[in-house]
Amino acid sequence: MYVDMGQLLARAVAGGYAVGAFNIVNDLTAAAAIRAAEELRSPIILQTSVSTVKEIGAEHLIVLLSDLAKRATVPVAVHLDHCTDPALVRRCMDLGWSSVMIDRSKASFEENIRTTREIVQEAQQKGVTVEGELGSIVGVEDDIVVSSGEEGLATPQGAEEFVRRTGVGAFAPAIGTAHGLYTGTPNVRFDLFDQIKRRVACPLVVHGGTGLSEGVFRRLVAAGAAKINISTAIKIAYCEGMAEYTAAHTGENNPLRMDRFVAERVKACVGEHIHIFGSDQKA
Ligand code: 13P
Repeated sequence: MYVDMGQLLARAVAGGYAVGAFNIVNDLTAAAAIRAAEELRSPIILQTSVSTVKEIGAEHLIVLLSDLAKRATVPVAVHLDHCTDPALVRRCMDLGWSSVMIDRSKASFEENIRTTREIVQEAQQKGVTVEGELGSIVGVEDDIVVSSGEEGLATPQGAEEFVRRTGVGAFAPAIGTAHGLYTGTPNVRFDLFDQIKRRVACPLVVHGGTGLSEGVFRRLVAAGAAKINISTAIKIAYCEGMAEYTAAHTGENNPLRMDRFVAERVKACVGEHIHIFGSDQKA
């Protein structure tokens, strides 16, 4: 069933688990992610990066995803990830995304609050949940590049003010995680996460999930993370699955069999994360 992300996160907070938000790139990855969630009886968030929206086309993508979500036997939310462009956020809200992220974290604190607040006000009339970000998460996500050294972590006071003044339904503070692959051991600031959690009532989101250890995930979930984003791991499962299949079946040229193989890889990747996040058997 196609549900609002706000409901999923409220249940996650009450139940002490996190819902995985997986950046799908096409119908194959979306269907595989849903199958993993169905097998584990878990709620799931399908996330669309802006590049995926542009590549497939917003109209077609939402028809495809909402159809998969409606036919699913577990709750599925469809979320627009990291969108810096208010016009595209508005378009996606109008087309049927049930939640959106407006990312103005590279702008000044006041400008971030102002634009996020505007989107929240419009979203409320449409029953859409809005995620906002404070601080900058290092790495590359789509066209948004934040170099190491440019990042600013969120502060507890800033977080409290941002959430109070914007009214966001989900909040992503920069706490030391990074998009893409980690080159060293990430310095995840659990202390900062705890302080923010104590001052902010809205569900917290962790970005940059790929490459975090099981121990770090479990600590974040225990500390109250309600949504954890996984993108690069899905892309790796997809591309490596394809490479492996074609290498092992040279000359076969059977896309459907290759798709089935790749889908299993993506499903396994999603399933592993669902299990660690503790959302299995919660649908
Ligand atoms: P990763 O690519 O590190 O998994 O990050 C995903 C993310 O936070 C998307 O917003």
